[in-house]
Amino acid sequence: MLSRERVQQLCKKSLESIPLGLKDEEWQNGIDFYKYMFTNHPDLRVYFKGAENYTAEDVQKSERFKKQGTRILLAQFICANTYSDPVAFEAFARETTDRHRIYKMDPALWHAFWTVFVNYLCTKTTVDEETKQAWAQLGKDFGDECLAHLKRTGRAY
Ligand code: HEM
Repeated sequence: MLSRERVQQLCKKSLESIPLGLKDEEWQNGIDFYKYMFTNHPDLRVYFKGAENYTAEDVQKSERFKKQGTRILLAQFICANTYSDPVAFEAFARETTDRHRIYKMDPALWHAFWTVFVNYLCTKTTVDEETKQAWAQLGKDFGDECLAHLKRTGRAY
């Protein structure tokens, strides 16, 4: 187990490889996330209405995924930056769960997401074993809180 501070430090450091959108190449980091996800996990496209059959090429041309790409990466910055403050981190996990209610996702995805994310990060920079462990720890805590929230509120998703 890494300390919360160490997890935060490692996750934040790894995010330096994907600065967020002002310049074209920064927006591209977000587009690249969905290109990666839709190519390597095409089954997840089912939740993105109207984009169920999108290829990486379709994502590249899409204004929707340009915006959404930076949104999802920003959420990872929020996770890393709040990890040392469990009150904020866990509240963000619950808020994210609530915002996804309409997509009726398989709850297991709250844990599975993080492997997808780290593998995407590996396409951008070298991610060492300790940093992978840090993201795994953060992702487990995030997923645990999402599932606890669903249970507490008596919901399946
Ligand atoms: C939006 C699915 C995990 C943060 C969305 C949308 C879908 C979706 C379908 C709507 C976008 C659109 O259709 O254009 C999923 C799936 C996940 C996942 C299948 C797991 C595999 C996460 C995680 C986070 C997150 C772990 C945060 C840590 C967001 C944000 C938005 C969004 C910030 C923008 C809309 C909003 O803030 O409500 N997601 N999501 N998602 N997702 Fe996820």
